[in-house]
Amino acid sequence: MRVHSLVTVWLLGLVSNLISAGVAQESDNSSSVVPLKEAVGERFQIGVGVSEQTLSDPNCAELIGRHFQVLTPENCMKPQGIHPGENEWNFAAADRFVASARQHKLGVVGHCLVWAKDDRTDQWMKQGDDGQPVSREQLLRRIEQHVSKVVGRYGEAATMWDVVNEALADGSDGYLRDSVYSRTCGIDFIETAFRSARKQDPDALLIYNDYNCHFPDKRQKLIRLLTELKERGVPVDAYGMQGHFELGDDSLAQLRETFVALRQLNIKVVVSELDIDVVTRGRWWADDGKYRDELRIYDPYVNGLPAEVAQQQSDQYAALFRLFDEYQDVIARVSFWNLHDGQSWLNDFPWKRTNHPLLFDRELEPKPAYFEVLSVLQRAKSAQNIEPSLVSEAPM
Ligand code: G3I
Repeated sequence: MRVHSLVTVWLLGLVSNLISAGVAQESDNSSSVVPLKEAVGERFQIGVGVSEQTLSDPNCAELIGRHFQVLTPENCMKPQGIHPGENEWNFAAADRFVASARQHKLGVVGHCLVWAKDDRTDQWMKQGDDGQPVSREQLLRRIEQHVSKVVGRYGEAATMWDVVNEALADGSDGYLRDSVYSRTCGIDFIETAFRSARKQDPDALLIYNDYNCHFPDKRQKLIRLLTELKERGVPVDAYGMQGHFELGDDSLAQLRETFVALRQLNIKVVVSELDIDVVTRGRWWADDGKYRDELRIYDPYVNGLPAEVAQQQSDQYAALFRLFDEYQDVIARVSFWNLHDGQSWLNDFPWKRTNHPLLFDRELEPKPAYFEVLSVLQRAKSAQNIEPSLVSEAPM
């Protein structure tokens, strides 16, 4: 009898979700769909990383305001733009970004304070006053100054910071990525960055941000790094899992293992830069780059995404959001990287092509993947709302 009631409740929930998603899907007016932030509810924050230009476009700003709660500046707060010389600062773009976010009543994630790669670091930072490689003391002092100044300026608006970005070596190479930072200071530069951020902003969520750390080799390094930092008393609160996936990735089991390991360490997860590349980029680096000439002119979806590929992408997004729902106790935020397909960095990197990695298309309309994500979130919510007595008796 009770099992019967449960099934009825579940079916009713399912039908109502299908109806609400379906009604929205029939309409081509994006303002009639259920906003993502409403569907996500209290599970975690939902955000997006955008450029300053995107935020100043009224149509984009309207879409952002409807669906998201928190913004990451895609580029304008990065060290190379904001701090072009030891005593030179260029805050104009980041100031405009933060003012605009506040005007739209959106939160801000500071991105990023230290990008631990040589090609993302200006020459002045890498060398001492005598033109020789920078000393450990000078580099740590510069990091401290940079972090203090930027967090001091935006700390009131930013509730989270990507304090250090991409410091771990890829795959099975070494521990820390080879860079001026690791060569000169080992992990001490990470400690200095986090301590300086905490000093300026006692309440913010401080994040270590990186990619591919769900794969076993790099995950081991991530756990080692976070453990070492915690043992030193460094205030690191969360791992920023960038989440730049490719169509066909089958990483759910590895993501799950990563979330469990981080939960044990008492470290939160933020999914900081989510997208699913449909003109997959992996082959660009395979076999010493031998496919690059062929790929440089490979642009299969210039006239749109075939329905079966759109479906595959939708299924992949749905599986990810089911997982995020399951691990909502660990996940503090999920942010997409860019607002719509036309703006994605994946149209340019690592070669120029027409990509479709996001939930909104080039006309700012929600794609099939949007409705799939929505339906996952709504279905999971209605499952949560079922009376506990019915849930507990379901297996009978
Ligand atoms: O604005 C100039 C334009 O004037 C010039 O004509 C053009 C020529 O190349 O370059 C434009 O600047 C580009 C900028 O994006 C804006 O589009 C830069 O060359 C390009 O390097 C820059 O790429 C950004 C990249 O980080 C490097 O900073 C991407 O937009 C941005 O999406 C990407 O974001 C990173 C995260 O910060 C960290 N995680 C990985 C993620 C993807 O790479």
